[in-house]
Amino acid sequence: MSGHRPTGKLHIGNLKGALENWVRLQEEYECFFEIAIWHALTTEYEKTQMVKDSIREVVTDWLAVGLDPAKSTLFVQSDVPEHAELHLLLSMIVPVSWLERNPTLKEQIRDLNLEGKINYGHLGYPVLQAADIIIYKANAVPVGEDQLAHVELTREIVRRFNGLYGNVFPEPKALVTEFSKVPGLDGKKMSKSLGNAIMLSDSPQEIEGRVKQAFTDPSKIYRGDAGHPDKCLVFEYSKIFGSPDLAEIEKDCKSGTLGCVDCKAAAARLISDYLAPIREKRRELEQKKGYVEEVLKEGSEKARKVAKETMAAVRKAMKIWNGG
Ligand code: TRP
Repeated sequence: MSGHRPTGKLHIGNLKGALENWVRLQEEYECFFEIAIWHALTTEYEKTQMVKDSIREVVTDWLAVGLDPAKSTLFVQSDVPEHAELHLLLSMIVPVSWLERNPTLKEQIRDLNLEGKINYGHLGYPVLQAADIIIYKANAVPVGEDQLAHVELTREIVRRFNGLYGNVFPEPKALVTEFSKVPGLDGKKMSKSLGNAIMLSDSPQEIEGRVKQAFTDPSKIYRGDAGHPDKCLVFEYSKIFGSPDLAEIEKDCKSGTLGCVDCKAAAARLISDYLAPIREKRRELEQKKGYVEEVLKEGSEKARKVAKETMAAVRKAMKIWNGG
């Protein structure tokens, strides 16, 4: 089980950090992939229209990279309201202190200037995420490193629930992707909101323009200067996207025969070629009117069936009212 918040189109960091792994995993596991709309609202509650519009973009990206609705269940969180019920019940047994020490929350308080202004729902973000995961009795959660604390908290919540009410939920494991981190064009974490991302839907011209802005080795100013590929983002991209000329680039950068302009043009071409089939598939999907809606409708029906069964088991284990 895994998911994305709908806050815009996806970028190559999402591709390498999550999506490619998900596409592989769907061959081996029964997978649930969620558009985490309520999680998006914890910070974007003033941009609800943007959140809604992003659903279609994210699902189109998912389908374009190869998530297959015949193999995996793709759904929108709010189409399965049982998540909200489980979140509520879990919130009865999760100490506030567990949530206050959440490192992601601390980071957001610092970065978004939210000291003393955290909303109730935002504090409960990991409780909602735990509900998302365990309502499908998930064993594995494929995520980037930034989500490890949330998965760890999910395991603590499961232990607490099972200890109180009996063994209902398995403890899920995080599956961290090999290339978890694609740095942004400025070396910070790649994020659409920081403007340092290459989007899956970018055209070859856009990709070329973006890669031109990428930070390179600061000590290589002129073409003839010796570069340090290990300190260069563009070299990192060449590596991540599997350049066949890596050894040559490294040698020629170090010796000063390869300049950054040419090196960047080659990296842009490499990324652009890599994304070409995704761009093509995206275009096809955009033509298929109503298809995304159809996929989500079927997905939420499948997800809801499982979620309803789990909730019946939860109410029974908790010995609470289970419907007349
Ligand atoms: N918090 C995750 C993120 O920001 C999104 C998410 C919501 C999620 N629910 C989930 C991820 C359940 C894995 C499992 O990326």
